[in-house]
Amino acid sequence: MLTRRRFMMATASCSAALFTKSGALADDVWFETPLPVPQLIDAKSNSNSVLLVVAPGLHAFRPGQPVRSFGYSAPILGPVIRLARGETIDITIENKMSRATTVHWHGLIIPGEVDGGPHNTVAAGGRWKTQLSIDQPETTAWFHPHPHGETAEQVYSGPAGMLILEDGTGTNLGLPNAYGLDDLPLVLQDRFFDGDAAPVYEPSPMDVMAGYRGNTIIVNGSIRPVARVPAGLVRLRILNGANARLFDLKFSDRRTFHVIASDGGYLAAPVALQHLVVAPGERYEVLVDFAGGSDVVLETGADQNFPMMGMMRGSAVAPGGQVMKFEIDPTKSGIATAPPKKLVDVPSLDISQTVARRQFILNDMMMMGMMGGGMMGDPGFGRGRSPAMAINGRPFNMERIDVASKRGTLELWRINSQTMAHPFHVHGTQFQIVSLDGAPPPSHMRGWKDTVLVSRTAQILVPLSQRASREHPLMFHCHILEHEDAGMMGQYTCL
Ligand code: C2O
Ligand code: CU
Ligand code: CU
Repeated sequence: MLTRRRFMMATASCSAALFTKSGALADDVWFETPLPVPQLIDAKSNSNSVLLVVAPGLHAFRPGQPVRSFGYSAPILGPVIRLARGETIDITIENKMSRATTVHWHGLIIPGEVDGGPHNTVAAGGRWKTQLSIDQPETTAWFHPHPHGETAEQVYSGPAGMLILEDGTGTNLGLPNAYGLDDLPLVLQDRFFDGDAAPVYEPSPMDVMAGYRGNTIIVNGSIRPVARVPAGLVRLRILNGANARLFDLKFSDRRTFHVIASDGGYLAAPVALQHLVVAPGERYEVLVDFAGGSDVVLETGADQNFPMMGMMRGSAVAPGGQVMKFEIDPTKSGIATAPPKKLVDVPSLDISQTVARRQFILNDMMMMGMMGGGMMGDPGFGRGRSPAMAINGRPFNMERIDVASKRGTLELWRINSQTMAHPFHVHGTQFQIVSLDGAPPPSHMRGWKDTVLVSRTAQILVPLSQRASREHPLMFHCHILEHEDAGMMGQYTCL
């Protein structure tokens, strides 16, 4: 039995060849790999029917060293699926893994029945057919596994894909939209390599408390890739698909870039920034001007989002570093030159219309987790007895409905974190942030959101338009996946 969860070939000859003696595994890949661009599936030209096979495959994080991973109809990650507003898409999931999974459509405003949460199990070897009716503003969403208690491990093993929802707005605005050329999907993640070519997923109880961080950043599955871009305006669709890591993105020359969209759609106007924090589950679309013609590196600052810093063993920080490089290709010409002055009208939700006010306390250092004799350092306090996490003191329970909402109403939710920041995510809706730690949100968070990083406290206005029954409730949870699996999740009905 492999005690470490390596997603690698099980044959001796292969594993021997894959082993490397280098401890600093990732450091020798320096902008060698061209940025992998996932296959684009345009649902409409596919008669609005899409088949995704989730299966094992071989993927080389480092050039020439393939290891076992999982993906949706791909060795790792999955396709980018373009969905048009007003259409209904038939999706079939075929599960060729040896365990059950679910496929969740993160960011879509859809009913619980089709949402792919923990109640929509696809058994090993099984199939799931679902139908998505797209009726929301143009944006970038994504899909990933969401099985009860195993989301973190399955997402880490590889499967995740992007959704591009379109309604014509971007084209009308003249935004870059040549997929793979001046419109690039960037799935940012991290993995832990310990000298082997395959990532290791072996969270200690401490890792569960803090969320599992890797020592190597990957973009679309590769380490420090390089993208060749036109000397013009380029659109980056940034998704933080990591289990726990926060990215604090900036360019090596500290150039200004423009955020044009958050999780659920365009902002009212582009927001100029020099660095951008992206929490797990969040998406931002940004425009970067490469017209100056010089190559530049995208970097991330350190991630210091750990619980009770002083108490943690070792250094409670995931260091910053280089993410990827952009090289100018003089043979390509960019279409747009300057970002538009104005984007869309973002309707603002009216707080006086709320019919319910709710409070959610995200319990991260559950003293509860240490009950039953399991103290840190106690051998029993490990796998199978992970720290318990909860919301309002109640760890997630598939059979319990935590919130019963009324369909077609607006609610005000107040969320509180305890010892670290948590990216709080709600299924089946896009909300607006009223306040963060008592202050109005920064400009780039004033549009539609489905995930909000809560440092201490956040207030959000949540429109509830989608049906969610007792059998198929919708989820709300922390998007640090180890926290979600450890119980920091609840479910709501909407009838
Ligand atoms: Cu992307 Cu319930 O999550
Ligand atoms: Cu979601
Ligand atoms: Cu959390």
